[in-house]
Amino acid sequence: MVKSVDAQEDQALYRHPYPSPGLAAEYPFVTYDHRRIDDTTMRQRSEVFQASANRRRSVRMFSSHPVPLDLIESAVATASTAPSGAHKQPWTFVAVSDPALKSKIRKLAEGEEHENYRKNRMNAEWREALAPLGTDHHKEFLEIAPWLVVLFAQRYEVLDDGSTRKNYYVKESVGMAAGLFVAAIHEMGLATLPHTPSPMAFLRTVLNRPNQERPFVMFPVGHPLPGTRVPDLARKPLDEVLVVADRD
Ligand SMILES: Cc1cc2nc3c(=O)[nH]c(=O)nc-3n(C[C@H](O)[C@H](O)[C@H](O)COP(=O)(O)O)c2cc1C
Repeated sequence: MVKSVDAQEDQALYRHPYPSPGLAAEYPFVTYDHRRIDDTTMRQRSEVFQASANRRRSVRMFSSHPVPLDLIESAVATASTAPSGAHKQPWTFVAVSDPALKSKIRKLAEGEEHENYRKNRMNAEWREALAPLGTDHHKEFLEIAPWLVVLFAQRYEVLDDGSTRKNYYVKESVGMAAGLFVAAIHEMGLATLPHTPSPMAFLRTVLNRPNQERPFVMFPVGHPLPGTRVPDLARKPLDEVLVVADRD
């Protein structure tokens, strides 16, 4: 087990340092900009972040109060810092505020959700899982929220010359970007809801996206309607979600 925090001692533990001299000669590398923080400060910072994350809720009643575009841009810029397979960043965020376009999206989403909720496209187990949330096919918030941000996953990359390149771990990468987007929106004091009106293929058509892009999730973004209510959900305690493998 590595105990030393001394840079030179730890360096000596590596028989295969990264980058290798050959790699560093071929590709550019920079020194990682990292400032070491003491354990107490790390604990304080982590508690602050955890408390904030724990206050986040998915909201289904948004205010129509406008939200400036630069806040959406900032959240997308944060999301786009997510790690991604082979650094392909296989995501596109499409931000919509135009009332006519939002209205069209609402209509199409409600059409799909009507099939799901009213025409039994969901099985009994799915309906049972959703029951405490009380969701149905009404999606007025898609028109009322000032922004809809639709996240598309790029199944492959299309280069300027029209040739294609494979993307790697697309779902995992886009999922990480989605999580960062949700966190960024929450941290700035806005609210969102990951919304997946299944199937979502209509979003590619209505937003005129290329064939390689698949809708991943849609985020209405705005201020929560004052006094909005959310399901009284409990989150799993740590011992249900964390296994420390080296403990008895
Ligand atoms: C991938 C994904 C898809 C979701 N799709 C929907 C959806 O279509 N409609 C909806 O009302 N909520 C949807 N949700 C929100 C969840 O119901 C919500 O996150 C969950 O109930 C926990 O509540 P919280 O976000 O307030 O912690 C989705 C969440 C995720 C992560």
